[in-house]
Amino acid sequence: MRNLWRGTWATRIRVASGLVLMLYVLLHFINIGLGVFGPVAMDAFQDARHALTRSLVGGLLIYGALLAHGALALWRLASRGTLRMPAWEAVQTVLGFLIPLALVDHIVFTRIAHEVYDVNDSYGYLIGLIWGTADGRMQNLLMLVVWIHGCIGMHFWLAGQTWWRRYMPALSGFAALVPGFAFVGYLAEGQRVAAVMADPEARATLREMWNWPTTETFMTLLTTASMIWWTVGGFLLLAAIAFLGRKAVLRRKSVRISYIDGPEINAAKGSTLLEMSRANGMPHTSLCGGRGRCTTCRVILEEGADLIHPPSAAEARSLRAVGAPPNARLACQIRPTNPMTVFRVFQPDGKRGRAHASQGIEQELAVLFLDIRGFTARTTGQLPYDMVFL
Ligand code: FES
Repeated sequence: MRNLWRGTWATRIRVASGLVLMLYVLLHFINIGLGVFGPVAMDAFQDARHALTRSLVGGLLIYGALLAHGALALWRLASRGTLRMPAWEAVQTVLGFLIPLALVDHIVFTRIAHEVYDVNDSYGYLIGLIWGTADGRMQNLLMLVVWIHGCIGMHFWLAGQTWWRRYMPALSGFAALVPGFAFVGYLAEGQRVAAVMADPEARATLREMWNWPTTETFMTLLTTASMIWWTVGGFLLLAAIAFLGRKAVLRRKSVRISYIDGPEINAAKGSTLLEMSRANGMPHTSLCGGRGRCTTCRVILEEGADLIHPPSAAEARSLRAVGAPPNARLACQIRPTNPMTVFRVFQPDGKRGRAHASQGIEQELAVLFLDIRGFTARTTGQLPYDMVFL
């Protein structure tokens, strides 16, 4: 279990904030799904949920997690050496950046509308607001995007755990069920609210009950949403500019990397060794996606070990945990500035590579040791034939 918290502080904060957000999303989806059982069940669960999520501590935790998760994602984008990455990581990254852009409207028309304009942001209000509109379809898409992004993150966080592999089929079924349940609840409640709101008198009563925003309030909320949207988009743009600028500066300086069982490449300085491998099409195992947790990207530095920066405390801890030799380093944590010769310990197909001759061979073995009491004393001086006979 301790392995789950391996990595730098940034990695740990990313995992912890991701867990907080996943729990929030799970409760949110269950709440929407309860629409299947009617508004009473939905509202009762929402009240209980709000007691938790809208308390001072709950609010700080959730919005703190959201900001920390977003800020770390932007920082990661800005400090990347390349955009080449495995397909799963690309999907997770793209979905992750889509979330805030679609989430802004949701937050503004629920939480902010509630806090500032005293709108009763029950699910009836929200679904009545977006039912049958493009925004409604966008919010449904957002549910899927958030869930897939979170599930990919959870999977690659837990991928190294034996129990995770054992329960994965059942948990995958659960993961598919949750958004499905939420969607069915949304449809049930949407149809109910739409039917009620078709009657002008009932609609007026409902709107009064929800303290439906006036036209001016709607305009103000829309302006607020677009301001936040542009702010989020601006941060994204800044991160992209930082990434491109850094790449342009570093492209002018390159370093030579020789792979023991592969070619020699010239890569831009400033990237991690893992990014250099990816940028040059060199297969390089990285189970955790370069977050310094899994150690599957580790390399043996045959040459150049003395010229690379020392490992950070987190990297040293990870290497110690797997009993790595002194010249082993994590490719996702080192940024080579001098030529080096490296050996990739793991093969990209997930198997462990045959080590370079100087390292011996790493293999999983079952060893049976069998002895006969007094065998040495009994057989010393005997001829091989006698021993075989014995
Ligand atoms: S430690 Fe997982 S990719 Fe480097």
